[in-house]
Amino acid sequence: MKHTNLKLQDFPSYTRKAATEGIVLLQNENSVLPLKNTDNVSLFGRCQIDYYKHGTGSGGAVNAFYAVSALEGFRNNNRVTLNEDLASIYETFVKENPFDNGGGGWAMEPWSQIEMSLTDKIVEEAALVSNKAIVFIGRTAGEAQDNSATKGSYYLNDLELEMILKVTSKFDDVVLVMNVSNIVDMSFLESAELKGKISSVLYSWQGGMEGGNALVDVLCGDVSPSGRLSGTIAWDINTYPSFANFDNMKKNYYEEDIYVGYRYFETFNKSLVQYPFGYGLSYSSFDINVVDVVNTAFEIKFKVDVKNTGNYKSKEVIQIYVEAPQGELGKPYLELVGFTKSKELDLDEEETLEINIPIERLASYDDGGYTGYKSSYVIEAGDYNFYVGKNVRDNQLEFSLNFEELIVIESLSEALAPKEEITRIKPGIRMENGEYQITNEIAPMTTINLDARINDNLPSDIKITGNMNISLQDVKNSKNKIEEFVAQLELNELATILRGEGMGNHLVTPGTAAAFGGLSAELRAYGIPAACAADGPSGIRMDTGQKATLMPIGTLLACTWNTKLMEELYYLEGLELVKNEVDTLLGPGMNIHRHPLNGRNFEYFSEDPLLTGEFTKAATLGMHKGGASGTIKHFAANDQEKERLHVDSVVSERALREIHLKPFEIAVKEGNALSIMTSYNPINGVQTASNYDLNTTILRGEWGYTGMVMTDWWAIMNNPVTMGDSKRQHASYMVKSQNDLYMVVNNHEAKSNVLGDDLEDSVKNGTLTIGEMQRSVINILNFILQSPVIEREIKAENVIKISGKATDPNIELIANDKLEIKMDSTINKTTSFNVSNKGIYSMYVEMNYTNTKLGQSACNILLNSEFIYNAQSSDTSGKWIRHFALNLELETGLYDLELDFRRPGMTVGTILIIKN
Ligand code: BGC
Repeated sequence: MKHTNLKLQDFPSYTRKAATEGIVLLQNENSVLPLKNTDNVSLFGRCQIDYYKHGTGSGGAVNAFYAVSALEGFRNNNRVTLNEDLASIYETFVKENPFDNGGGGWAMEPWSQIEMSLTDKIVEEAALVSNKAIVFIGRTAGEAQDNSATKGSYYLNDLELEMILKVTSKFDDVVLVMNVSNIVDMSFLESAELKGKISSVLYSWQGGMEGGNALVDVLCGDVSPSGRLSGTIAWDINTYPSFANFDNMKKNYYEEDIYVGYRYFETFNKSLVQYPFGYGLSYSSFDINVVDVVNTAFEIKFKVDVKNTGNYKSKEVIQIYVEAPQGELGKPYLELVGFTKSKELDLDEEETLEINIPIERLASYDDGGYTGYKSSYVIEAGDYNFYVGKNVRDNQLEFSLNFEELIVIESLSEALAPKEEITRIKPGIRMENGEYQITNEIAPMTTINLDARINDNLPSDIKITGNMNISLQDVKNSKNKIEEFVAQLELNELATILRGEGMGNHLVTPGTAAAFGGLSAELRAYGIPAACAADGPSGIRMDTGQKATLMPIGTLLACTWNTKLMEELYYLEGLELVKNEVDTLLGPGMNIHRHPLNGRNFEYFSEDPLLTGEFTKAATLGMHKGGASGTIKHFAANDQEKERLHVDSVVSERALREIHLKPFEIAVKEGNALSIMTSYNPINGVQTASNYDLNTTILRGEWGYTGMVMTDWWAIMNNPVTMGDSKRQHASYMVKSQNDLYMVVNNHEAKSNVLGDDLEDSVKNGTLTIGEMQRSVINILNFILQSPVIEREIKAENVIKISGKATDPNIELIANDKLEIKMDSTINKTTSFNVSNKGIYSMYVEMNYTNTKLGQSACNILLNSEFIYNAQSSDTSGKWIRHFALNLELETGLYDLELDFRRPGMTVGTILIIKN
């Protein structure tokens, strides 16, 4: 069903709705919140103004239409009296100490900003006029660098601590707002100096462009908080089970295995947890009653009554966990198997909610044959106890199901098993307190012959026919089969389709991440259009500066536990994609929160695979209904930013399938995902972009995926069987594994293969078949056939026509129809030239950029104040690279050429303008 009642103009208000629902109230002593009309409030901390609306890197690079800070949110809401004197002190401070974005370059922004040093006088004066204080703590994070367990990142820095101490010494009612991207240390709440001094704590996360309004909606009680944590906040970062292995440069051993987040803490040591998974308070209170449980053979259906027994209209989240028998495999004490959220319940209002749990959710994967059923999902014999409640701690046993015998749910084949020994944890004996001792075992290692698997399953070649006058539209109109269409394409044409170009490609919406498909005149003559991909996940990123709607970060969205709202939000995103002629949003990001310091956690949803899968599914379904699609990413186990191209995720097959691949499986099977981005990292030695078992055996073979798979930008590939060197040029391994599309080669270089990938040579020397190339081309074209671009007019190479101004004799002329303009600049710059010979000119731009973190940099080029080209560069390792930019139709006259750096970092060198 389409959400036809929703219009694109509703998008901002939906981001606000989502942002309110994702705010998690962790503590609220003495009902200090919600604020009352009679309250006078003092706001402390610069993040009231420098509100973090998103993280950094590709996942946060939307040029939002506008953004509302918390201070503006208060002024807009106007329900409580603000201490404006204090607000203006902070405004002055922020003006004098502007937000430090690290210069705007890739991965340069610090995790936090310098806080204002508070004098006793400021606090004392505030306490004279205000009865309540709100303290803001802000943190950001982003791609290409992880957070760190240091002050200013995971921990409070000295000025922040001092601010909190001073405020709590003068105010009785103190509210702490955590405007953060990731979970950060909260143990300071129980420190000797602060214990009992902070009344209310909420995680507002980063709420997108309406974040400030949303926060104030909750603080003032217009909306009662209904967010619940999508991860566990432990007392001590050292106790997260991946801690010992996180941050390694070469190998990341997943020794915690399936015991990620609450699966670990609830099984082995509950006392390590400060705030449990699924936890969050409301201003209201609820009665939860299970009224019916029906066990059909396929699912267990719960009917749960939830009644608002408090004094505020509010929503409640119902969570169901299962305790499975330990059996041969070992299981976490509890696992989330179902959840739902009520509507906003009026006082005394009641709603009956249904939660259906498919039986497969009870199954575990046997990667070692421990149960006698190797490579199968099995439900081991024994009692399955279902707990229904508010979070992983606060719940009640409501139903038990006994399986007398083991049931095999699905028999699969061994895939992706480790090639080296890895120790993993497992529950040992159960102790008196109900917790399990930790034991270790070696995870089963690979036993299959992958080479034989690949060769036994090679697709047949489609005989090349040459041009038979079949266009892609003929396939769209069911006149011809896709195979007949593809048969027409010669080897070099097939290869061109397997290479995406970007960023900032002139054939698609300016400033976006990539164009793919019809990247040569020959391909466009066959009716293949150039499709457009743009970041994601929190909105459309157009590095030209073009504006779009900025949604809240993924973690906040998951904390809403409201998949219906998520689908509606992404439906609106779909409408905005279509409007901007973008075919696929590079998102949602959906890796598992394995460790709190992962720099990209904010883009991702949760430590739990079901919650992550359900949110991704809602997003993909929503975008499809809106007319576009998403590219779910990063497939898979991309859980660390440091050394992200190289650090090997060494992980058991069971942990992969049950934790790290599971959300993708849900999004593919139930969310009908059409496009997937592989990650940068290798899994068990093989880069994901050339990983056959990942992209073919599991994704297509087991899950029945028929969509397209693309690499992450400038990814590297190695041999899926023998591993060895990883390189950008190894596109044959990519195609062999059925990662279809290489993202990205430089603009205008897909056809000429300037990168020098090995596609055509590999077919010629027999290591790659034409059938393998055709198979991936079909996957890409099938995606294009289902995308909005197929309905758009095919764009030819751009020739931009610009009118000249009256010539100025003092300014340089394009002599001999050629002019080299030396810009050599990293800053905005303007220059002028005269054209005496009107006609079509080609423009080339030289760029140079050193950023080993796969950085991205962008600069708009304007001619007589009109945008003509968005020059973008990734790392060129200090070398000058010359890109063909576009063709210009110039009249005689004067032209002002202007550089406008949108994403600093690169240097623009000589711009060559030469008559065709
Ligand atoms: C990121 C992707 C992103 C791509 C394009 C990469 O650096 O890892 O998530 O979609 O850039 O911006």
